[in-house]
Order: sequence, then C-alpha cells, then structure tokens
Amino acid sequence: MASSVIDNAIAQLANVQINDLSSSSSLNLQKNLSILSPDQVELAKMLLAMGQGHLFEDWPDTGVDDDEKKALLVQVALLNSSYPGGLASYIKTARQLLADSKAGKNPFDGFTPSVPSGEVLTFGDDNFIKYEETGVKQIQNAAFVLVAGGLGERLGYNGIKVALPMETITGTCFLQHYIESILCLSEASCRQAQGKCRREVPFVIMTSDDTYAKTLQLLESNSYFGMKSTQVKLLKQEKVACLADNDARLAVDPNNKYRIQTKPHGHGDVHSLLYSSGLLKEWKDAGLRWVVFFQDTNGLLFKAIPAALGVSATKEYHVNSLTVPRKAKEAIGGITRLTHSDGREMVINVEYNQLDPLLRATGHPDGDVNCETGYSPYPGNINQLILEIGPYMDELSKTGGAIKEFVNPKYKDSTKTAFKSSTRLECMMQDYPKTLPPSAKVGFTVTDPWLAYAPVKNNPDDAAKVPKGNPYHSATSGETAIYRSNSMILRKAGVNIDDPVSEVFNGQEVEVWSRVVWKPKWAVTFSDVKTKVNGNNNSLSQKSTLVIKGRNVFIEDLSLDGTLVIDSVDDAEVKVGGVVQNKGWAIENIDKENSALSEEVRIRGFKINKMEHLEKSYSEPGKHSLNA
Ligand code: UTP
Repeated sequence: MASSVIDNAIAQLANVQINDLSSSSSLNLQKNLSILSPDQVELAKMLLAMGQGHLFEDWPDTGVDDDEKKALLVQVALLNSSYPGGLASYIKTARQLLADSKAGKNPFDGFTPSVPSGEVLTFGDDNFIKYEETGVKQIQNAAFVLVAGGLGERLGYNGIKVALPMETITGTCFLQHYIESILCLSEASCRQAQGKCRREVPFVIMTSDDTYAKTLQLLESNSYFGMKSTQVKLLKQEKVACLADNDARLAVDPNNKYRIQTKPHGHGDVHSLLYSSGLLKEWKDAGLRWVVFFQDTNGLLFKAIPAALGVSATKEYHVNSLTVPRKAKEAIGGITRLTHSDGREMVINVEYNQLDPLLRATGHPDGDVNCETGYSPYPGNINQLILEIGPYMDELSKTGGAIKEFVNPKYKDSTKTAFKSSTRLECMMQDYPKTLPPSAKVGFTVTDPWLAYAPVKNNPDDAAKVPKGNPYHSATSGETAIYRSNSMILRKAGVNIDDPVSEVFNGQEVEVWSRVVWKPKWAVTFSDVKTKVNGNNNSLSQKSTLVIKGRNVFIEDLSLDGTLVIDSVDDAEVKVGGVVQNKGWAIENIDKENSALSEEVRIRGFKINKMEHLEKSYSEPGKHSLNA
C-alpha cells in the first residue's frame, strides 16, 4: 500500500480510537495496516467506529498469521455486502433490538387486534372450483420460490430436506413433486390459454451454505426432474454475524480467533435476495404478476395453490397468506389485523403466545377463543404466501428487501446482562407486510385442515412428545397426511373409500387411509380428478394402494382391494375398471433404532411391505382398457 494511504489511514484510525474502548486494538490494527487493502482498511475503521475493537485485540505484529488477518477482513466484506445497509446498520439495529429485549418491550404495545378479511374455502364446492379455474389461468403469470436454506435441526435428517421421499409408496422426493407440479400447472394454464402463454414458469430455490451444493447435485443428477435447467435459479443466502452481548459486540468464532461466528438469518432473506439478484425486476418487466412462496417439506401445498392464486386474482390481494383453520390457543401463529392508536395498521402473523395476551389486554377477557365454526377466528399461518409483483417491487425499492428483524437472546439470569450463548438477528418471510402502508390489500385464504399443510419438521422423539390433538409435523404424519388428503379428494369425487384405521408409529397415533398416490400429470386440480373418475361404483378398501402414474388414466367402476399400479404413455387413454383383488402392500411398523434400515424409513416408523400387486404399463398410444 502506498505510504501516503497508510499515513492517512493511521491519522483516521487515531480519530476512531477516541470512540473505541479498546485502544490496544487500534494500535494492533495500525501495526498491520500494510498487509490490508484500502477497502479492508475502510472496513476495519468502520468496525472500530462501531465498537468492535475486540476483533483486533489479540492481533500480533505483521508477519504472524497475516493470511488469517486478511481472511477476517474478507469475511467482514461478505457480511457487509450481503446485509441491506451493511454491517454498521446490522450492529445499530442489533443494539436497538437487544435494548428492547432487555427492557421487556412488547413489539405489539399500543396495537389492537381484530380479524382481517379473507376467503374461507371448502374443498370441492362450486366456489372452490371457480377459484381453481381462475388460479390455473394465472399460473403462467406466476413465479415460484422455494425457501430451502434451513438447517432442519429439529428433524435432524442427514441430507437436505427436499431430497426426502414425500411418501414411500413411490419414493418421490419433495423436490421432484414440486417441479412436476409446477410443470403440470403451467401446462394446464397453457391449455386454458389455448397455447397463447408463457411456457416456462420461473422456479427459484433459495439455498444456503448448508444446502446449496446438495440441492444443485440433486437437480443435476436427476436432469432437473424434467424442468429446463435454465428455468431453475438457485440463490444462496449468507449467514449473519453472531452477537456476544447487549452492546452487540460481534462474537468471535470459538474455533478461530480470526473469524466472526455466524448463524442463519432466517427465511426473510428471500425478499432481499430476489430484489438484489434482479429477478424481481426481470419478472415484472416480462409481465409476470405473482410470486408464490413455499417451504421445503409440505407435500400437500400444491393441492391448494390454484385456488389460492384464484383468490389473489379475484380479490386483487397484494399479499395472500395461505392458512389453515386453527383451534384457539393452538401453537401456530394467527393472521391478525393490528391497528395502532397512532394510525399504523398491518395484517400480520402474530405468534400464538403473543396473540392470546394481546387479546386479553385489549378488551377480550377470554383471549383467543373458538367462534361458531369451532375454530379461532384468527386463521393459522403456514408461511405460504402469494405476493403481487407490482406492489411487491414498489415496496422493496423502498426497503431494499430488508424485513423487520427480531432477536431472541437466551439470558444467563434475570439481570439480562449476559447471554448463555451468542445470539443473532433473525427475519421471517411472513413479516414482509410489517412495513406496508394501511392501503395495501393484505388478505388470507383458509383451506380445509386436511388439504394443504403437513410439513416434516420434527424428529420422531420430539414428535412423540407433542401434546395430544396438536399436529406432529413429522415424517410419519407428513406421509400419512398425503394418503388422507388423496383419499378425501377421491371421496369428494364419488369414490367409496373405507374409513381409516388408527395406528401408532414412532410413538405417534395417526389415521391410516388407503394409500392413494398420483402423479401431478394425472391431476393438478379437483376438476382434473372429477374428469378422470367416472361411474358410480368405484371403491377402495382400507388395505388398498392405488398408484396412478399415467396422464390419461380414467377410473371407471373399479373395485380395489389390494394394490394396483397404472402407468401409461401420454398418448394412451386407459380405462381402469373391474375387480382387483390381491394381498396388496402392507404398511408395517418398524423399530426406529434398527440401524439396518435407512434413515428415511426409520424417521417414519413404518415401511411398505410389497406382498402382491397388479401393475400395468401401457407404452403404446391409443385406447386401452383394464377390465380386471
Ligand atoms: P423451518 O421452520 O422448517 O426451519 O423453516 P429450518 O431452519 O429449516 O429447521 P430447524 O428450525 O433448524 O429445525 C421453514 C422454511 O424456511 C426455510 C426452510 O428451509 C424451510 O423451507 N429456511 C429457514 C430458509 O430458507 N432459510 C433459513 O435461514 C431458515
């Protein structure tokens, strides 16, 4: 570095030193200026000015650990550039939020809750079908965004969550199902538009260092599950600096004194990444209208997407939260309108442990209670959002995609002066509406409780401890929910499906319905199902498994008591009827500690024992009939 630059930097560091408690840090830094680039010197000055001198406290003279010292500044540059407003802004916000937390400040002080407006759907009725039709039309104007950067610590699975089989009858993983659903929905949208459509609906996956490489590998080794590789974009969120104390001093990595400890910032990063990557602008310029956000392990979501998009389009919602009915006090957040005496207003997710006290404090002595529907009037947030691109882009150009953050320090004791371990700021995707003006149209769509939400988040031991009546959110409940939902849909389409039986797997009591699975190309809407199920004499016994892989498979007066697997090329039309009876595939309890079994099986607590089945595959175009 030129000596005048160093002299200048030393002079400026001397000024900074006044604010910095640890002057030895400043001296250490001065001695090392020659090894740093001018940009790195600027970053070091910023750190000193922001009270982060401890990061340089133990720095030896030049010649010792120089590469490590430079690597620290490289890390600082990344932390600085990946946070809207930079690291100084992160530290400032952290100080404010830590002070609020220490003072026990309630973020909702002064707000009065009320029930926002939204649409309550009943699966399969005329209203639902109308919304589905409207939604399918809109698919070609949508981009899909999967947030898949989470560690999945609660589940404890060794791989990435999107690689997990959604169900073990076919072994289809979550990512494959999502991609096939998007492809089939966009085909359906094109059919409605009689070919005048955008064929390549964009699909973005937000990953993190924990998930990026494995997600890319899963896609590449499976030819992107049929999607064009150019249609899929992977974004990567960066972690944020950990905070060691109430002064927001950045925590030093316990394994390396030349690194700052970092942790995930939360799925709220998706907004700033979509904005800074230029994708949002690209989509807006291309005339797209919607962004659909969804999460890594919800095998049911796409059953509700068309109708929810129809609600967004019909009601012109800028923000539409897909929700499920929620029992009062149930442990999921409720979508709530909050009105402040100073005129502020927002429609937002309020966590259940904040909603009940907030209601009690604002004139509802019983807090959160069920209404005449048997559910709380505040619908349950499931973090699947549909945003309208125009207003979304307008808002992000003001905020740069920064989402209101929170901090959740675990204090050592009631003095709240020290933390048990370092903390960090976090942000959540669903907090996006917090900065919107009251004029923004923020609504919700409620679907039937069995239709659209069965995430896989909890490991078997934790799931078994979930209080009775609350959802397990485990691999066991995630898979059995798919069979329930598909069986219920076939029931609505007129098929006689036996009642489920109750079974316990991995300590969790679940309903076991007939194992019904179909590929998205068979049906992506209820109208598709209704067209493909004909006759008044279709029935499935509880022990049955029905797998439909072909596009034009028509079920007509089929009586199934066993297992039937039907596949066909797209140009074939196959009528499936008659009586099919065999030993079928049994769902059998396994011991989750049995290390001879795969992790994917052990986390479910059951395996599929394929005893006997009828499998038919039609590889020639034309009309076929299976009349067993
Ligand atoms: P979860 O609540 O399931 O959290 O995230 P998680 O981090 O994956 O799992 P735990 O809490 O460690 O057990 C909801 C969705 O948000 C994504 C997840 O991948 C999931 O789809 N997510 C979460 C991110 O994309 N980034 C994050 O920083 C956190």
